[in-house]
Amino acid sequence: MEKTDIAMEKETKLMDRNLGLALARVTETAAISSAKWMGRGDKNAADQAAVTGMRNMFETVNIDGVVVIGEGEKDEAPMLYIGEEIGKAGPDAVKVDIAVDPLDGTTSTAKGLSNAIAVIALAPRGNLYHTKNYYMSKLAVGPKAKDAIDLEKPLKENLLNVADALNKKIEDLTVTILERDRHKDIMAQCRQLGCRIKLFTDGDVGAAIATCFEDSGVDVLAGIGGCPEGVLAAAALKCLGGEIQGRLVAHTSEEIRRSQTDPSYYKVMKTDDLAAGDDVLFIATGVSDGDMLKGVRFLPNNKVRTHTVVMRSATGTVRFIEALHDMNKKPPYAKVVK
Ligand code: FBP
Repeated sequence: MEKTDIAMEKETKLMDRNLGLALARVTETAAISSAKWMGRGDKNAADQAAVTGMRNMFETVNIDGVVVIGEGEKDEAPMLYIGEEIGKAGPDAVKVDIAVDPLDGTTSTAKGLSNAIAVIALAPRGNLYHTKNYYMSKLAVGPKAKDAIDLEKPLKENLLNVADALNKKIEDLTVTILERDRHKDIMAQCRQLGCRIKLFTDGDVGAAIATCFEDSGVDVLAGIGGCPEGVLAAAALKCLGGEIQGRLVAHTSEEIRRSQTDPSYYKVMKTDDLAAGDDVLFIATGVSDGDMLKGVRFLPNNKVRTHTVVMRSATGTVRFIEALHDMNKKPPYAKVVK
């Protein structure tokens, strides 16, 4: 059946500019719920709280959404699973793809460490990259170096090119790397070249975003992290004018088998492949204190303070929202999950 112009327009319609605030409530609720678990040594409970908070609040938002990339599949608890339909889906709801990480930094939250966030990204249906593969090799930089990276090239060449683009000496370039054994070679290459390294223990969405802020003190993110986090970072970097490139890494025996015949394992994906189209939204709320966002503060009289960033690629607006919540007045669906 031929689609009418109105139907076509509805499918491609830019997302409502007020959607950002409704979605900020989603990550706020996830952050408040999971922050209750800070330092309690139970990362699954922290994650479950974030998932439940996020799912409950999503149901109040008028979108016709599908989770296209996230933590995993149905029946692997706790999660917003790939394929899950999200939102109120009223008659005028826009069809969207959703990428979620209800809690990026489950271990950090359980240990009371920094940089945990609740994070989502949205784009009109069909625009967010999806895969069930677990890991992705990533290289990310801020706007000034966006044309200087190419994941096809050796890391050293990339770092020299980024230093050039930033007009920095190579010894002043700072590469941020997830602290994992698998990154020993990357660290060795950086040290051989003479650049600085900033390791972080978890949360490579925030680390990729940091490359877009000059005063963050980091210039490049390099290394292997989760695929959903790669898509979420791409959504943010698209809004901020940076660039992230990624390539799938086969890890499980099933992935290794698949990678032998599946050409997508060799393809370098750019920001626009991971988060396509003209209208991508990225929203994150701090759970624990981080470089970009403060963590949740539990205040006297059952009040809570949150810090959220809402970014939109269509306009390039980056909006920081500090909210004071009176938990006594919250409706049941927004109550903290214990
Ligand atoms: P979760 O808290 O969602 O598990 O992710 C934390 C994280 O550090 C991500 O930011 C990163 O992409 C991924 O884990 C790396 O995976 P691994 O911990 O297996 O190295």
